[in-house]
Amino acid sequence: MDAVETLRSQLPVLQRLAYLNAGTCGPVPEVARQAAVDAWAYATAEGRGGAFYQRLVPLAEELRGRYASLLNASADDIALTAGTSDGCAHVIASLGLGEGDEVVTADDEHPGVTGPLIAAREQRGVRLTAVPLAEIPNAIGDTTKLVACSHVSWHSGAVAPVADVVAAAARAGAPVLLDGAQGVGAVGVDVAALGVDFYAGSGQKWLCGPVGTGMLYVSPEWTTRLASPGPSYGGLTDPSAGLDSGLVDTARRHDTPLRDLSTVAAAVAAFDVLDQAGFEDLQARGAALAAELADALADRGLAVVPRGATTLVSWEVADDETAVATRDRLQDAGVTIRDLPGAARLRASVGGWNTEDDLDRLLAAL
Ligand SMILES: Cc1ncc(COP(=O)(O)O)c(C=O)c1O
Repeated sequence: MDAVETLRSQLPVLQRLAYLNAGTCGPVPEVARQAAVDAWAYATAEGRGGAFYQRLVPLAEELRGRYASLLNASADDIALTAGTSDGCAHVIASLGLGEGDEVVTADDEHPGVTGPLIAAREQRGVRLTAVPLAEIPNAIGDTTKLVACSHVSWHSGAVAPVADVVAAAARAGAPVLLDGAQGVGAVGVDVAALGVDFYAGSGQKWLCGPVGTGMLYVSPEWTTRLASPGPSYGGLTDPSAGLDSGLVDTARRHDTPLRDLSTVAAAVAAFDVLDQAGFEDLQARGAALAAELADALADRGLAVVPRGATTLVSWEVADDETAVATRDRLQDAGVTIRDLPGAARLRASVGGWNTEDDLDRLLAAL
């Protein structure tokens, strides 16, 4: 068996479906299911006393370390979150933005970014400027206090011009928050090379972990500058000291309070399956297959949305109703993709675990 076949044999959904939906949630490895079941079996049989937490806390640190290595960051600069939206909301709510402060964003952002931005506008008078992703560098100016946009657009698969964004934001003295939901695991992410201040990602998409997992990179210069409204055990220097405790000087002060052992165990197990297959190989293969699919769709006369060298392929359909009906028809034919509500588009997410046969099944079912 080659590496792809070995990986596919560990992802049960791929035995039956042409599963092209990791941009929503990745295929769950069998070992992740087993890890979650084992954790519940342990909790059920042994209860959830000290020994339960003695398993959970170090395992959460292992997960942090894995996320850190994937992002080329120190574990001290990674907060564990419940997903990309959670990380974005934490940053947007914790920067102290107020009346008249401008946030520059893209005009096709996910609700994980637009939601916290709308709340900041309604509740704190923040001013929002939305432009196409490629034009963000030109929209950054003296009044800009934050740039918040996708690394990879969920609507098109286009890549943000990160270097230009970072340079323009630096001139304005504004930090940069990247929504990395379609970045982490899907494409190479090196937060040091990107030079961004914050990078939020999901554990359930291209890392194939449970819903409710994710990470937030906080650059060292922001660790203590960014407010941390909800530190829990791991965020305190001495949790047993009551109000005499301080806050730790690492991104652990930005953690979302701890999740269940089953969730953390499944996230670690899923990560290791992909790591064994090799993230770089998977990313290269996913991007190459996605490019192939984009070409095949265009050859059929479909309007493929301009994209980057990523794992997402979107194309236009007549209207939202057609998108939903096509999505459902394909699902009945054993092909999982998604529609993009409000945009009259369909989107296929192509992972390194997919094959040309998966693409052929999609093309045949269309
Ligand atoms: C660009 C983008 N941002 C945010 C999210 C939300 O991610 P999460 O469910 O991890 O909060 C998604 C998920 O579809 C996404 O595509």
